[in-house]
Amino acid sequence: MMRRSLMIATGSYLPERVVSNEELSTWVDTSDEWIRQRTGITQRHLAGEGELTSDLAIKAARNALDMAGLEGEDIDLIVVATTTPDDTFPATATKVQKALGAFNGAAFDVQAVCAGFVYALAVADNFLKAGQARTALVIGAETFSRLLDWEDRSTCVLFGDGAGAVLLRSTDGGTGNGWGVLSTHLHSDGRERDILYVDGGPSTTRTVGHVRMNGKEVFRHAVSKLSSVIDESLDANGLKAADVDWLIPHQANRRIIDAMANRMKLPAEKVVVSIERHANTSAASVPLALDEAVRDGRVRSGDLLLLEAIGGGLAWGAGLVRFGVPALSDRAGSETAREEVAPIA
Ligand code: ACO
Repeated sequence: MMRRSLMIATGSYLPERVVSNEELSTWVDTSDEWIRQRTGITQRHLAGEGELTSDLAIKAARNALDMAGLEGEDIDLIVVATTTPDDTFPATATKVQKALGAFNGAAFDVQAVCAGFVYALAVADNFLKAGQARTALVIGAETFSRLLDWEDRSTCVLFGDGAGAVLLRSTDGGTGNGWGVLSTHLHSDGRERDILYVDGGPSTTRTVGHVRMNGKEVFRHAVSKLSSVIDESLDANGLKAADVDWLIPHQANRRIIDAMANRMKLPAEKVVVSIERHANTSAASVPLALDEAVRDGRVRSGDLLLLEAIGGGLAWGAGLVRFGVPALSDRAGSETAREEVAPIA
């Protein structure tokens, strides 16, 4: 029987500083009305001077470890999804590793921009399924504000900073069948590079550069590509949209989120939306939204989650997850009753 990656805990962190649309309107020629109508955003958190992506990531990670009752030494894989690493190298994940004292395995970053968390989840899930690690910390963390051209109103109003994390623990043998990460589905298309990119980097300009975007084109691709990867995920598991308890979408634009929910015929109560308060936090957006819904009691153990995201590359993907840890009662009558779920602590 195949190993499974149970999603046993979540965590998040948002920088203290909140910038409202009104405040932003004093920096660039925009308005609260324009931003809210076009995107659903009302405010964003921005990292303070000297506050780094790793600082956000470490706080989100500690938050998740606390939920699970785990220590850094219990972790043998750290994957950080980020487009805004502290430095060109080493990986931001190694800073997280050091802060947590998690030296029993590997730590590295993945870069898939706004789809980064779904990519990192897929990477960690495959490590766990292959038996190469047992307990993984998967983090999406960004100080995306550092990539923005604060004179370009068409992009700077859209983004915010933050971090979210999940803990995955592999089961032994077939325990937890139907639980944890059911499947992940990744895609990219480098032909669409020019509709969303940063005009700089170590090998081109040697500077960091700024976000450049053709918003209408990104919007169009987002709706069609996310629709198709959602269908792909459900089909792969023989599930229907109605089986999904929670859609946890990338928070780029309220209109894209609503389009996905409508297509799946999911009522608004089954869609986790945080864009109004967080804006688009790139790789952090999905785990931030998830953690919020776990902590306020919406997402419960046993719920079926559909995570999806798209961003620069283009890169996009989705994952289906049955959240939490199977309870003893759930296992009593099942065919896997005699197999033990890996203890959480
Ligand atoms: N405030 C006021 N006016 C603005 C602003 C602003 N911040 N930005 C642009 N405008 C103006 C434009 O200049 C334009 O004016 P004009 O008609 O006089 O030329 C007008 O508003 C309309 O601009 P459009 O770009 O056509 O507006 P659109 O309805 O396409 O909305 C938006 C723009 C919100 C960016 C939308 O295209 C979108 O959300 N696209 C998806 C892109 C996205 O989500 N990117 C995030 C990163 S990728 C990802 O995470 C998926």
